[in-house]
Amino acid sequence: MAVTERTQSYADLVADDPREFRVHGSVYTDAEVFGSEMDRIYERTWVYAGHESELPAAGDYKTVLVGTQPVVLSRHEDGKIYALYNRCRHRGAVVCRQERGHSNFFRCRIGMSQSTGYPDDFDRGAYGLVPVSRMANYRGLFFISLSDHGPTFDEHIGPARKYIDAWLGRSPVEQIELLLPPHRYEYPGNWKLQAENGYDGYHGNYVHLSWQRVLQLSKESTVEEVQRYRQEGAARGLLNGHGLLERPGSLNPASSWTARMMDRYPEYAEAMRAKYAETQLIDLSARRNIFIFPNLYLFDTHLRVIVPKAVNRTEVQLYVYALHGVPDAINDGRIRGHERFYGPAGFGAPDDIEVFTEVQTGAQARGNEWNLFSRGQHRERVENGERVGHTTDETPQRSLYRQWRLEMSRP
Ligand SMILES: [Fe+2]
Repeated sequence: MAVTERTQSYADLVADDPREFRVHGSVYTDAEVFGSEMDRIYERTWVYAGHESELPAAGDYKTVLVGTQPVVLSRHEDGKIYALYNRCRHRGAVVCRQERGHSNFFRCRIGMSQSTGYPDDFDRGAYGLVPVSRMANYRGLFFISLSDHGPTFDEHIGPARKYIDAWLGRSPVEQIELLLPPHRYEYPGNWKLQAENGYDGYHGNYVHLSWQRVLQLSKESTVEEVQRYRQEGAARGLLNGHGLLERPGSLNPASSWTARMMDRYPEYAEAMRAKYAETQLIDLSARRNIFIFPNLYLFDTHLRVIVPKAVNRTEVQLYVYALHGVPDAINDGRIRGHERFYGPAGFGAPDDIEVFTEVQTGAQARGNEWNLFSRGQHRERVENGERVGHTTDETPQRSLYRQWRLEMSRP
């Protein structure tokens, strides 16, 4: 049954009831909903497309899908990065077939050969690739909107700005470099399952218990210590669909990674103390998993990009990055830590992917088609426009679905 018959309107698929926030299961399973998400969210709002370090030289390019539409990002001779539809103006073939590369020009397989097929005054220059409607760069992160209308990028990113700044601040020169290529996984489930998961502070003690036991067996930590740590901090739901999971910052090496690195590497401590006041250091040492609606996560080791492929198929790209201006040993440690939990043979990511599959399968069942996202609604508070919940609450997920409902309801 099509969703329109069942509910009349996409807005009805999210029930923002003050005591029982619910999301209808068809948001994970209905191909028509997925098609509208591509139109209304991915091909209209601001979508993350790439990082400046991926295109260091003029002629470097990468191809991305923005919703269903192929786009190429490239650095021009003027040093700037541009985003163009990846579509030949003749018969529509993509002009860049590789995921990333370097080229002095873009043209399809044929180019314009046997040009006597066109009159002498044919204006080649009038058939260049078409730029996308809007592009914005925030601190090296490039975002695209395929629509001329809707909120400006500043409006969109505003509520998340200070968290992005703090995230970048762990580099004393505020620069990162993506270590290419990304690694990736695909799962047979909806893209929003990955969005819901990255800042979910609830599941870790259960879904990743085997990982906690590994840490205990290797005498790095105890299950009890890890679980106590996982109670600390907050889950934040920001405006515009952004959100984050946050562990508190500290200058105590026993409880903060940044403080531990400063303790271990005096040159890092010196650079950080020269740049930041103590209150700033405490703030940027908070560990945060930051979701930028609708397709980007900023983690302490990697950028995670969600690429929806179909209503029940999603690709996830993980771009591990180096912090600039820090001792190599710090980045080496970050990368090894990433591999151990998130990597292809890691102890964490496979647990999550298995659960995505279980949810996608269960969501096919009819009869009781509403998923509950009410955890912590009764104890949530509002601070400076942010909803703040306990670290195990579904506060950021509610923020995601409020924005989802808003975007899906726009005319
Ligand atoms: Fe997880």
